[in-house]
Amino acid sequence: MKKSFRDFLADLDGAGELRRIKRAVDLRDVSALVNQSPQAMFFEELKDYPGWRLAGGLIGTRKRLALAMGCAEKDVAARFEQGLGRLIEPVMVEAAPCQQVVRMGADVDLAAIPYPLMHLFDGGPYLSGTFVTSKDPEFGRNAGSYRLMYRTPNETGIDLVSPSDMRFYYQRQLDRGRPLEIAVAMGVHPYEMLAASYKAPIDMDEYTVAGSLHGAPVPIVKCKTVDLEVPADAELVLEGELLPIGWTADEGPFGEFSQISGDVKWNPIFRVKCITHRIDPIFYFLQMPWENDWLAAPVTEAAGLRALRNASVQPVAIRAPVGSCGYWTLIASIKKRPGEGKNALLALLSVSEVKLAIVTDEDIDIYNPDDLDWALTFRVQADRDTIIVQGARGKHIDPSIKAWELGKGGLPTTAKLGIDATIPEGVPKQLYKRIQYYGKGRVKLEDYL
Ligand SMILES: Cc1cc2nc3c(=O)[nH]c(=O)nc-3n(C[C@H](O)[C@H](O)[C@H](O)COP(=O)(O)O)c2cc1C
Repeated sequence: MKKSFRDFLADLDGAGELRRIKRAVDLRDVSALVNQSPQAMFFEELKDYPGWRLAGGLIGTRKRLALAMGCAEKDVAARFEQGLGRLIEPVMVEAAPCQQVVRMGADVDLAAIPYPLMHLFDGGPYLSGTFVTSKDPEFGRNAGSYRLMYRTPNETGIDLVSPSDMRFYYQRQLDRGRPLEIAVAMGVHPYEMLAASYKAPIDMDEYTVAGSLHGAPVPIVKCKTVDLEVPADAELVLEGELLPIGWTADEGPFGEFSQISGDVKWNPIFRVKCITHRIDPIFYFLQMPWENDWLAAPVTEAAGLRALRNASVQPVAIRAPVGSCGYWTLIASIKKRPGEGKNALLALLSVSEVKLAIVTDEDIDIYNPDDLDWALTFRVQADRDTIIVQGARGKHIDPSIKAWELGKGGLPTTAKLGIDATIPEGVPKQLYKRIQYYGKGRVKLEDYL
C-alpha cells in the first residue's frame, strides 16, 4: 500500500526516532530546537497557529532515510535504483485529504501558515520541503523540489536559477509572454521527495518513480484553480503561477544545501491563487541542509551504481557522504579485475556533480572512515593512482571555483579528482594480510564479567 507523510511519522515514532513536544512552541524557537534534537521532532501545538502541528528534521540521518525507504542503511542506493526499474502510473481520485479546506481569492494568506525562519541570515521564512508540479504541452508533467521565500500574503520567491526541467518549462512560457502554472504540495512521503529531487529525463513523469518506490500508484487529485494534479494525501497545497517577469525579483539569502549561507539571487515570483490543506494540517519543516543532503545521497549513489555497471565494473558498496552534501563525493568498493580501479574512477567522475571519487577493493568497509584511511594510506601512490580531469562542468555554489570571475551568465567549470585506493596491480594481496587477535572467536568477554 502507498504510504503517506503521516505513515512515515508513525514509522519514525515506532522506531523511537520521533520526539514529541506537547508544550505550545513559539515558531521562533523551532529551528534551534530541531537543530539540537538527535531525533526528528513533532510539535503538537504551535503558539498563534491553532489547529496546526509541525514536524521537522525528519530525514536528518542516514538511519531515518533508510527507515523511510524500508531497507538497511547500506541499501538505500540499490533501493532507489530498483525504484527506477518498474515505473507505476499514478491514479486519479475525486476526493482528497489535501483539499479538506480550500481558501481562494481574498482568503489566500500565506502568513497564516506556520513557517519558521530557519537560519540567521535568511532573507525571510522559507518553504523548504516542497513537491512542485508543473506541465508542458510537449514534455508533460514534471515534479521537482524548490524552495519558496515568503514575500507577501499571496506571493513567494522561488529559486529557479540552476538548470532544471521546471526552469526550462518556465523559459518556454516566458518566451510566449505567459505565466507557468505550478502547484506546491507539502507534507508528502519521502518517496515523493526523492522522486522530485531525482533529475529524471525531461519526459519522465516523477509520479511514476514515486509509485515504483512505493510499489503502488500515487493517488493524485486535480487542483482547484490550475490545470495540474497533486498528491492527494499531502498536508498542504499552494496553487498558482510563476509570473512572466523572468529573473528580476530578489530572492535570498538562504542556508543552502551546500551547508553555506547563500547570497541574494534574482528569480521569478510565484503568485498564489489558492491554498488547500487537511482539516488538521501538519507543516513540514525540512531542515536545511541535512534533509536536502540526505535526500540527495541515494540519488547520487544510484547514479554511481549505474555508471559503474555501464562501465562493466561490479560494485559492492557505494556512499555519497553528507559532508560533501550528498552530491560532490562518491566512494565505492568494487570486485576488481586488473585496471578496473581506474575504469571505476572514470565512471564515477562522470556523475554530474561528483568532483571527488575514491575506489577501494571489496574488503574495505567504506562506511568506516578508519578503514578507508587505511586503504588510502597503504594502497595509494599519488603519482600513480590519482586522476585529475580539468574543465568539467561545475556548480556556482562551490566557492573554490571562483564563479564570480565569469561575470553574469557565465557557466563555471571544475577540476575532478579520482583516487584509486585498490590494491595496485603487481602488489601481492598477501602484503595486506590483517592482524588477527589470538583467541578471537574462542574466548568470550562475557565469560569473564
Ligand atoms: C529539499 C530540496 C530542495 C531543493 N531546492 C531547490 C531549489 O530551490 N532550486 C533548484 O533549482 N533545485 C532545488 N533542488 C533540486 C531539484 O529539486 C532537483 O534538481 C530536481 O531534479 C529538479 O526537478 P526538475 O528538473 O524535474 O524540475 C532541491 C532539492 C531538494 C531535495
